[in-house]
Amino acid sequence: MTMPKPPVPGSLRLRFIVAMLVWIVAGLVVIGLSTSALFRRHVEQQFHEELQVHLVELAELTRLEPDGSITLDRPLSDPRYAMPNSGFYWQVERHGAPPLKSASMPAGALDPSLAHQPDIVHRLAPGPTGPTMTYGFARTAPDGGSELHFLIATDERILNEVIHAFDAELRRWLALLAIGLLLTGAIVIIYTLKPLELLGAAVAAVRSGHARRMADGWPREIAPLVSDLNGLLDQNEAMVARARVEAGNLAHSLRTSLAILTDEAETLASGISGDSASTLLEQCRRIARQLDWHLARARAGGRIGAGTRLPDALVPICTAMERLHAARSVHFSIAASPPTSLAIEPEDFAEIASNLLDNAGKWAAGHVHVDWQTDGGVCRISIADDGPGIPEAAFEKVFESGKRLDEQTPGHGLGLAIARDLAQHYGGEVGLRGRNDGADGLVARITLPLTTGHLTGVDQTDGKS
Ligand SMILES: Nc1ncnc2c1ncn2[C@@H]1O[C@H](COP(=O)(O)OP(=O)(O)OP(=O)(O)O)[C@@H](O)[C@H]1O
Ligand SMILES: [Mg+2]
Repeated sequence: MTMPKPPVPGSLRLRFIVAMLVWIVAGLVVIGLSTSALFRRHVEQQFHEELQVHLVELAELTRLEPDGSITLDRPLSDPRYAMPNSGFYWQVERHGAPPLKSASMPAGALDPSLAHQPDIVHRLAPGPTGPTMTYGFARTAPDGGSELHFLIATDERILNEVIHAFDAELRRWLALLAIGLLLTGAIVIIYTLKPLELLGAAVAAVRSGHARRMADGWPREIAPLVSDLNGLLDQNEAMVARARVEAGNLAHSLRTSLAILTDEAETLASGISGDSASTLLEQCRRIARQLDWHLARARAGGRIGAGTRLPDALVPICTAMERLHAARSVHFSIAASPPTSLAIEPEDFAEIASNLLDNAGKWAAGHVHVDWQTDGGVCRISIADDGPGIPEAAFEKVFESGKRLDEQTPGHGLGLAIARDLAQHYGGEVGLRGRNDGADGLVARITLPLTTGHLTGVDQTDGKS
């Protein structure tokens, strides 16, 4: 399985990730705040009810002794009122008698001003160990004397501790939830965007000539687009095929007449009217070369069948070139590089290679060497000669159609343009460079995709250096 590519600015994946982040963070913040507020309300309510019950219990247990002192029948049922400074306190008061206080309050006292009415009231008041939630009410004494004042209090910090502990746990859980949601969100994004990635690969396969049409089985949202694309491809293919046939027909019909004209011109050139006949001959050859160029362009960009094998495809071309340049005894050698297969029609490869090998043969002093390396889905073929070479500044210029630097050697300045044009049609490139070993001569470099693992195309800067 291939790893998903990292999201780049402007990509759908980045949009999804940003939207998901905002959604998850905002959602969890709202959930966190509302849960904390709900919990606080619930805990406060529980404390409120509990303290009211304790206050009523305190009143029920209070007894007046005959001497006017206050006692309890038994201690309050909650043991925290017996633990010193536990934060849970009670107090009973009566005018003229010493107040009775819980054992939890060895020092200090509760504010009795809250216990002067028959209904229970509560408020935040200072206590022996900090601010307390104090509840109080008053009751008439059974002996008909002055009122009894009952007070119950709990430190506010006890309530706050419960709420803070809950908040801390809530934050931990929400953080875990956020991680879980982000991970599952990432899986959802990869899963839902997969068809788009496959669509890109399918289009690349069509572009590189490895598939003629796009396969079926796309999600419902993409299927119409694929079907339209297939329609367009069919239409294009039919149009190109028609144009190719027409261009081929035109070129062939012209070629026959041109062959007759060339023949006539050659006969004339060997006769008396040499000058104008050679002009005629030269023009005929120029037209023939132009036709070659246009034919090559019409043919390029077709589907790649089995591809082109190296070195098999190079051997016959080098043999033919050696014969063509036999008069100058140029030797063509092919390196023992590992055999490989190029994603290009053999005829188109032959056209590229023979143009470059012909140049090398025309300018070589005596030797032309061909070798190649494969790397990252592409093959780089170098054709090196030991001729005079050309200045570095002209490496690009000579690719312009009709551009020639050396007027002494026959040619029409189209070979390099044809070669580059064809290579680029297959996602490849042709470039010139000096020799690595510093010797005189020129190296023509052909870069072409390999038949496998080449869907990403070829680095267009390569070969121009
Ligand atoms: N191997 C080489 N050594 C020196 N100069 C070269 C070499 N290859 C190409 N050139 C220069 O580049 C020019 C353009 O080459 P190109 O192949 O396009 O045209 P041509 O060989 O002159 O004509 P054609 O190939 O159309 O018959 C040549 O005229 C020549 O000046
Ligand atoms: Mg040439």
